[in-house]
Amino acid sequence: MALHIGDTAPNFKIDTTKGEIDFHEWAGNSWVFFFSHPADFTPVCTTEMGRTSQLADKFAALNTKSLGLSTDTVEEHLKWVADVNDTQNTDLQFPIVADPDLKIAMLYDMIHPGESSTAAVRSVFIIDPNKKLRLTMTYPMSIGRNFDEILRVIEALQLSDKNRIATPADWKRGDKVIIPPSISNEEAEKIFPQGWDEIRPYLRLTEVK
Ligand code: BEZ
Repeated sequence: MALHIGDTAPNFKIDTTKGEIDFHEWAGNSWVFFFSHPADFTPVCTTEMGRTSQLADKFAALNTKSLGLSTDTVEEHLKWVADVNDTQNTDLQFPIVADPDLKIAMLYDMIHPGESSTAAVRSVFIIDPNKKLRLTMTYPMSIGRNFDEILRVIEALQLSDKNRIATPADWKRGDKVIIPPSISNEEAEKIFPQGWDEIRPYLRLTEVK
């Protein structure tokens, strides 16, 4: 099933390394970084799981829970987590979904037959506390993800929700943001009393915290 930004993230009940979860219940009022990887005991995946674990404090600061998935079993995941901890110098605590029957991988369109018919590609779903899909990204099996980008985009989404702004290319915390064209100058004066730079009538930059 193709999933689109704005869709409700499909719910599921599944075994994980932290026991069975009901996805929506487990997510609660948090944002979720839900990501798949092809297989346990593989090199790129090992670095990605390690990086997610190393960034646990940064995800927590963004009220974001991490949830991994591969089409391996809980038993395999648990053995592999010991290796991830050992080789990546971390203490991985987030749950990893066991999906040997591809139930969730199919539900979330993580199986791309051009890559593999049995293992997931590197999908990313950022899900907000209303359970809406806010961002999707898909990487091939051979390319590890950029975790700075994952944190950056969660921060940008949260800032956008809070301030009704958009963010320019390569935005990072502290940079100026964009007043969307859907907000008239008259309304903008109320929302952004700090003012803005008008580069073009459709390109207005302001600062928010
Ligand atoms: C890896 O994690 O290194 C990997 C897994 C499957 C295919 C290619 C690379």
